[in-house]
Amino acid sequence: MSEQEIKVPDLGGADEVEVIEILVSKGDSVEEEDPILTVESDKASVELPSPGAGKITKITVKVGDKVKEGDVVGMMEASGDAGGSDDEKDTKEAGFSKSVKPDLKSEGKAKKEPAPKKNTGFRLVTAKVPALDGLEHVPIIEINVNEGDEVGVDDPLVTVESDKATMEIPSPYAGAVGKILVSEGERISEGHELVEMTIVEDNGQGEEIGWEDTCSEPPESSISDKQEGKAETERNSEEPKPAQPSATHEPPTPGAKIHAGPAVRKLAREFGADLARIKGSGPKFRIIKDDVQAFVKSQLRQDGTVAGDSGSSIPGVKLPDFSQFGEVKREAMSRMMFATANNMQRSWLNVPHVTQFEDADITDMEDFRKAQKAAGEKKGVKMTPLPFLLKACATALAELPQFNVSLDMERKEVVRKQFIHIGIAVDTPNGLMVPVIRDVDKKGLWELAAESAELAQKARDKQLKPAETQGACFTITSLGGIGGTAFTPIVNTPEVAILGVSKAAMKPVWDGKGFQPRLMLPLSLSYDHRAVNGVDGGKLISLIGDLLGDLRRLLL
Ligand code: COA
Repeated sequence: MSEQEIKVPDLGGADEVEVIEILVSKGDSVEEEDPILTVESDKASVELPSPGAGKITKITVKVGDKVKEGDVVGMMEASGDAGGSDDEKDTKEAGFSKSVKPDLKSEGKAKKEPAPKKNTGFRLVTAKVPALDGLEHVPIIEINVNEGDEVGVDDPLVTVESDKATMEIPSPYAGAVGKILVSEGERISEGHELVEMTIVEDNGQGEEIGWEDTCSEPPESSISDKQEGKAETERNSEEPKPAQPSATHEPPTPGAKIHAGPAVRKLAREFGADLARIKGSGPKFRIIKDDVQAFVKSQLRQDGTVAGDSGSSIPGVKLPDFSQFGEVKREAMSRMMFATANNMQRSWLNVPHVTQFEDADITDMEDFRKAQKAAGEKKGVKMTPLPFLLKACATALAELPQFNVSLDMERKEVVRKQFIHIGIAVDTPNGLMVPVIRDVDKKGLWELAAESAELAQKARDKQLKPAETQGACFTITSLGGIGGTAFTPIVNTPEVAILGVSKAAMKPVWDGKGFQPRLMLPLSLSYDHRAVNGVDGGKLISLIGDLLGDLRRLLL
């Protein structure tokens, strides 16, 4: 086996082209004419095929490199008879098949599929209107292609409308669209020139891939009977057309080849958009510029990245086929579950979270709370730790107003709230709900106890009004009645902080002389680090702890 250079062939007049895609790697086995690289000029892109069969031993260029005719782009070990004739050897050493002359000067993109066969080349042709079943002078209502588009045989070039029907005039060729010779509203008849195209042609094998050259007539059966050998998956095309109904577009199959013209590829590269994730709305799912733009917009909307939010486009999680591990049952998510999942993800992705922990000594608070039991029974209200937490948080927010804000990144403003409304996370059979208690700072403990119990019950009974779930400045999520020692709650954005409460437990606490049994309440404060810094976080959680530890301070 002999190693040979892979060189850039005659580029059809283009001086220098850019490598935009490397299609093989070291060690890959290739057949003669298999594409090695895609290069692009300012007008068109084309794949450079392998000069022979063998194994790639080296690629000496990288994406973005500029290359010109004769440049070595890689090395390969030829398979088969290394001792071919001198003539053959010369040909191979000269690089890609000599007859391949990618036309990078003309506008449009050389067709990728089918891969050029032996002795192939590129040819400029003109697609014309076929027999229109007796119709004449029908107006074009839509041009379905743009210069630079890659089209397959039978892809619609233009749509015309008679007084009886609308029909697409399909392309007789697979190739790159060059100059468009018609305009919308123009009336056309059989033989009218529609578009110029650059096609891959097979000189040697006699394989007919389209109508004859510019001056020739289309074949009788016109538009759709030249499809054999096409590499793309096609809709069935059997009737002589022109009257071809618009195809129903199905989403492309995963892993399917991407169909997009050079300009679209360039646009996608500029936006960092992954073409594999974009559904093409052009003929045969070809990705057009509008698709790229719509994709980018939808990503921005999904991520909330419009003007300033720091959303992120993360790849989705691919699920395995769970049934391979055992029996599974699937059920639809409730709207609430889906909405909660989205809210959590939005908060998690947009908010840089920090969580700080503190144990509050609530021994005295609990003594006081239990002492209220009789009074509570009289009032018909149960005094749980929650009203104390609400009061302590409201007082702390008033003292540290930097937590009572929302960030308006779009307007680069901090919204400072002059009210203290606090949300309470309530576990309901339908999922998490967060009713809001208004003006917590202005309410007493009994009022807060009654209101929180009422709102929690309404949440469980699905009786909450929308207004009762809006306007919170801060949220308390208490898992104290359930268990756990600490957790990291997710900020309920656009609020900037949330207090998580875990189950109180007796702990030995050193008082300077000895260990005392004290009832300690674990607190977890998560906050948006864009809005508040760590020092403030430390201050807030300590303050809440102190307030709960000495209720008299709530009076100050
Ligand atoms: N430590 C120890 N015990 C606690 C406690 C704590 N931090 N907090 C409450 N308790 C006790 C209560 O005193 C009560 O005990 P008692 O009946 O002996 O008096 C018991 O736990 C149950 O209290 P609960 O009915 O839950 O009342 P609450 O006012 O403390 O809480 C809600 C009300 C609405 C917050 C609560 O019912 C709830 O739904 N919590 C779940 C919050 C949630 O889902 N968070 C989501 C996290 S993602």
